[in-house]
Amino acid sequence: MASPLDVQRIRKDFPILGRTVRGDRPLVYLDSAATSQKPTAVLDAERAYYENSNAAVHRGAHQLAEEATDAYESARAAIARFVGGRPEDIVFTKNATEGLNLAAYAFSNATAKASHGHAVDPRFVLTEKDSVVITEMEHHANLIPWQELCAKTGAQLRWIGLTDDGRLDLDQLSLIDDTTKVVSVVHQSNILGTVNPVRRVMDRAHEVGAIGVVDACQSIPHMPVDVEDLGADLVTWSGHKMLGPTGIGLLWGRAEILDAMPPFLTGGSMIETVHMDHSTFAPPPQRFEAGVPMVAQSVGLEAAVRYLEDVGMESVAQHEHDITEYALAGLQELPGVRIIGPTDAVDRGSAISFVVDGIHPHDVGQLLDDRGVAVRVGHHCAWPTCRRYNVPATTRLSSYIYNDRSDIDAALAGIRAAQEFFGVL
Ligand SMILES: Cc1ncc(COP(=O)(O)O)c(C=O)c1O
Repeated sequence: MASPLDVQRIRKDFPILGRTVRGDRPLVYLDSAATSQKPTAVLDAERAYYENSNAAVHRGAHQLAEEATDAYESARAAIARFVGGRPEDIVFTKNATEGLNLAAYAFSNATAKASHGHAVDPRFVLTEKDSVVITEMEHHANLIPWQELCAKTGAQLRWIGLTDDGRLDLDQLSLIDDTTKVVSVVHQSNILGTVNPVRRVMDRAHEVGAIGVVDACQSIPHMPVDVEDLGADLVTWSGHKMLGPTGIGLLWGRAEILDAMPPFLTGGSMIETVHMDHSTFAPPPQRFEAGVPMVAQSVGLEAAVRYLEDVGMESVAQHEHDITEYALAGLQELPGVRIIGPTDAVDRGSAISFVVDGIHPHDVGQLLDDRGVAVRVGHHCAWPTCRRYNVPATTRLSSYIYNDRSDIDAALAGIRAAQEFFGVL
């Protein structure tokens, strides 16, 4: 099905897409899985906030503080509406990495406190008898915090392996068993593009009484997602991949779970009462938002959410499906090019990794860059996934609402030119 988006009109909203690079080459930006570009509406919203209402939220008694607090809470409400949640269940973080650390630290902090006799929810206490389950396609952000948690508590880290065609090996769901306290899974892989059946994995987690976490960094910007439908207890993602500013991420939590979680960062703004020898903490979401938060970024993110709502997330998903089908077909027509990940557009997003016989992925990226085509090269913070497919690195194209088939054509032409340059055709 053809794309429902008027990409030429959308592109006009993104000033950066009008620039040239490497001399006079028009910029072809195919690196949105790393970070998206920002529309004027987002830039204007942040600037207007600083020009008119800048103040520390939830504190001052003056009008600016009131306006800043209203802006911050309005952003929370807009984001909640966007993902089908309640504002009080949305926590602002720095990015998804911080959201995942916040989740992992809930377990290690609860475990440490329990060992000193503090009352904590036993679901967050880990011992050597327990396990943590992730997958082999996780971004390092959803791997290393759990490795650290296991190192601190003695729990065992397990991972669900992958099939040769880039899918989760669901036969290994049995790794989630009575020892499992937490299961954390990526919704859409940033390296393979695979969209995982997270509901099924979360249901299995709940069957054994584990807490389920979903890394939705690559799904919420690209398709309609209702956090309730994922069946998770905690869902985290970043603002900068969905047209919003850098420096802001989100953690949605089921109310009862957030309520049971100890804080991650402590200090001002997250307390209820403070004494010299102990303190009590505010209810969520404030419990998890220590210090002066990222107000301007939240305002920018609300503008991004409104922009995406105007475009329509169904249309975004359909557009990306079209461009993904087109790119997959084009890459597979090139001799010597191998896609790492699913080769058809079923249950698959627009991040496409590939290797070219006889050319290192970094060289492919560099030759594309010479032509103005910006792609990502390397292990994409998913080093174990590269190892699983016996590649040192890949080159990755990733599209968004401002890309069309002509951008894919530019990348394909660049790959052909690289093959000619290296004499590997
Ligand atoms: C799937 C996935 N998870 C987590 C992250 C980490 O996001 P951030 O760097 O914004 O914290 C990324 C970033 O690329 C990602 O793609």
